[in-house]
Amino acid sequence: MMTAMVRPVSRVLRLGCVLAFCFQVLVPCGLPGAWGLDNGLAMTPTMGWLHWERFMCNVNCQEEPDSCISEKLFQQIAEIMASDGWKDVGYEYICIDDCWMAPERDSEGRLQADPKRFPGGIRHLADYVHSKGLKLGIYADVGNKTCAGFPGSFGYYDIDAQTFADWGVDLLKFDGCYCDSIQHLAEGYKQMSLALNRTGRSIVYSCEWPLYMRPIFKPNYTEIREYCNHWRNFPDIYDSWESIRNTLDWTSSNQKIIVPVAGPGGWNDPDMLVIGNFGLSRDQQITQMALWAIMAAPLLMSNDLRSISPEAKALLQDKDVIAINQDRLGKQGYQLRKEDNFEIWERPLLNLAWAVAIVNLKEIGGPRSYTITLTSLGRGLACNPNCLITELLPEKRKLGFYEWTSSLKTQINPTGTVLLRLERTSSAQFSYSVVSDSL
Ligand code: GLA
Repeated sequence: MMTAMVRPVSRVLRLGCVLAFCFQVLVPCGLPGAWGLDNGLAMTPTMGWLHWERFMCNVNCQEEPDSCISEKLFQQIAEIMASDGWKDVGYEYICIDDCWMAPERDSEGRLQADPKRFPGGIRHLADYVHSKGLKLGIYADVGNKTCAGFPGSFGYYDIDAQTFADWGVDLLKFDGCYCDSIQHLAEGYKQMSLALNRTGRSIVYSCEWPLYMRPIFKPNYTEIREYCNHWRNFPDIYDSWESIRNTLDWTSSNQKIIVPVAGPGGWNDPDMLVIGNFGLSRDQQITQMALWAIMAAPLLMSNDLRSISPEAKALLQDKDVIAINQDRLGKQGYQLRKEDNFEIWERPLLNLAWAVAIVNLKEIGGPRSYTITLTSLGRGLACNPNCLITELLPEKRKLGFYEWTSSLKTQINPTGTVLLRLERTSSAQFSYSVVSDSL
């Protein structure tokens, strides 16, 4: 991740670098539509923590001092992210969502943090977060008010972008509530992107533009990619299996449109990881982790890292699954087929490797077996002439070498997922050792 100024490298030079990179690793690069916002950021999906799903708009610090939206919460989470292995596996951005603001702007029209809950102010919090080797994200809204009713940025895009840059903010989540027209929505998202760029500070730009646009117009993803580093397409995630399923269903139903536009610099955002909370079983948490890796989704956890279970922590910190999410080829995976209440998803990876996920959607009965014909994977190439298969989830184990014409039998718990990594044998010798030290 770049920490320097936003525009030190021209678009032409960057294009040249990317082409050279593609040539070097001999992988098929995306179409021109796959070029994203030219700020050098989010070359792999953003990883971090975002307060919304778990802590929402709790402003009652008197009665709930440990779970209200306050500088103390972010300092404690930052401390744990740095000391408990989260930063080491890639979780880098600690992000504030709605409800951090004071109800009014200051006398110069600038946003200000609620003085009781953030007595040191955001600059102070950013310094603290940076001192831990992490980055700070903040939240604002393109319209007249945020979704929770705090001051919106409409009419203040430049002032707000500059304020965030002055404070040392590294990511902006820009929501789309209370915008009076689709024209203002689209223009506002673009103007804020340009305003952030003008500050000269590297600030990841997380949008909800297509989500708010869709009820009225078909989003133009080529345009959205030029302005945003990631974008929400679908309503808010909840801590429930129904919510995970709806997100996956929406994604697969729209994959023809949304998968080709994802790539380095710009990603579809299916919303936060809710692993480690209350609503998902162990198998459902595995499904979320596996499928967020297949979808090349930003990995923004929303949970309480101060009290997370060792199992949820190990799942979220699984380096091999994170490596699939962060794969430098930068291609989002897709659903290959759906049959008999199983879904098969696959994602192309660097060095002609593939990730494959098989989800058992049946919510009655016990584990069911599914046999994969290897010729059907990776457009017929994943295992040609043979391949080495590793199961990454739910267990970590080498399954061994398989011929192209053979098949693989898996057993999957209800609502659970088996996640596999396939390496073509010719390339396997070189890259297999990096799959996992923990096997
Ligand atoms: C919207 C967004 C959520 C969250 C809330 C905050 O619903 O989609 O992710 O930011 O607003 O009010």
